[in-house]
Amino acid sequence: MTAIRQSTHDDARHVIGASAAERFGVLPMPDLSYTEEVARETAPLYEKVRHHIPAIEWPAHAPYVFWINKLKKERNAVILAHNYQTPEIYHCVADIVGDSLQLAREATMVDEEVIVQCGVHFMAETSKLLNPEKTVLIPDMKAGCSLSESITGADVRLLREANPGVPIVTYVNTSADVKAESDICCTSSNAVRVVESFASDTVLLIPDEFLAQNVARQTSKKILTWKGHCEVHERFTAEELLAYKQADPAIQIIAHPECPPSVVDVADYTGSTAGMIEYAKNRQPGAKVLLVTECSMASNIEQQAKGVTFIKPCNLCPHMKRITLPKILDSLLLMREEVLVDPMVAAKARQAVERMVNLKSN
Ligand code: 13P
Ligand code: SF4
Repeated sequence: MTAIRQSTHDDARHVIGASAAERFGVLPMPDLSYTEEVARETAPLYEKVRHHIPAIEWPAHAPYVFWINKLKKERNAVILAHNYQTPEIYHCVADIVGDSLQLAREATMVDEEVIVQCGVHFMAETSKLLNPEKTVLIPDMKAGCSLSESITGADVRLLREANPGVPIVTYVNTSADVKAESDICCTSSNAVRVVESFASDTVLLIPDEFLAQNVARQTSKKILTWKGHCEVHERFTAEELLAYKQADPAIQIIAHPECPPSVVDVADYTGSTAGMIEYAKNRQPGAKVLLVTECSMASNIEQQAKGVTFIKPCNLCPHMKRITLPKILDSLLLMREEVLVDPMVAAKARQAVERMVNLKSN
């Protein structure tokens, strides 16, 4: 296992032609009163989030939920939301929810003209790569990712020069520039399979050092990596998890592979966010589950995983939390912020994403 230096990010966002606001027109702000109609229409949705949103707070959320769902139809838009979005987004306005791989796959299948990506920028960029003809919006352009920020396309070119013939697998949590310099992408749910799809004995798996170390333990290949870390998952420690286990040995620990290997060592299961949900819902892990990941996810699945009490060491992803109902409403009204990728970069980056999406049974 070799870690290679990291440098800063050279983000390239290109604005080409008329803006989405000019193409679609902007709409006026609706009346956000909690009317009888709003209360009636949103009542079934409130049932899904009542354990997380006190009744007294619902009138503040409900008008946004009501208008977002109305405007989605008017704009011919679909909302894709990552598993880390807050419960009112996940349960009340999202059309499709999932982990990074599921969202990338779903993005290839949507019919709507507009995609509103409730997640972070690399996810919206991936949707745009797979749907160059569609309008992709992100409610807050500043929703980044520490992994994505850890590496640039120029860094990847230097890595290739320094490691001739070594395939480069890039975690999907990267910019289009980085994807464009890579042979294929992977997510946390298919990283081992993607690495093993190459004949080479050595593979570069970048930029997440911990994911690479965790994958290296599941393959005979030599894995080279980078020094990028997820600022949410790097904070978990084996000591804190063992303290929970000592207090209650029946607790099951489920961890994301962006955690350090020492944390994965004490986990009963490790997998992508979708894998963690599947495990908690279907594999009867017992009465108490410690979810070692971003803490909105436990809130989102609590209702589906009946009989399981989730313990949430509450690490929030500040980037995911930039996405809010008011910003989603603004996106639909004002058709912003539009995600655009330089067509030259996009053509190469798309290949890397499509190779991953097309890998069988991952
Ligand atoms: P998943 O692909 O497991 O959803 O992970 C995405 C992510 O950003 C986790 O931090
Ligand atoms: Fe990036 Fe970590 Fe946030 Fe996921 S949780 S978006 S990897 S910073």
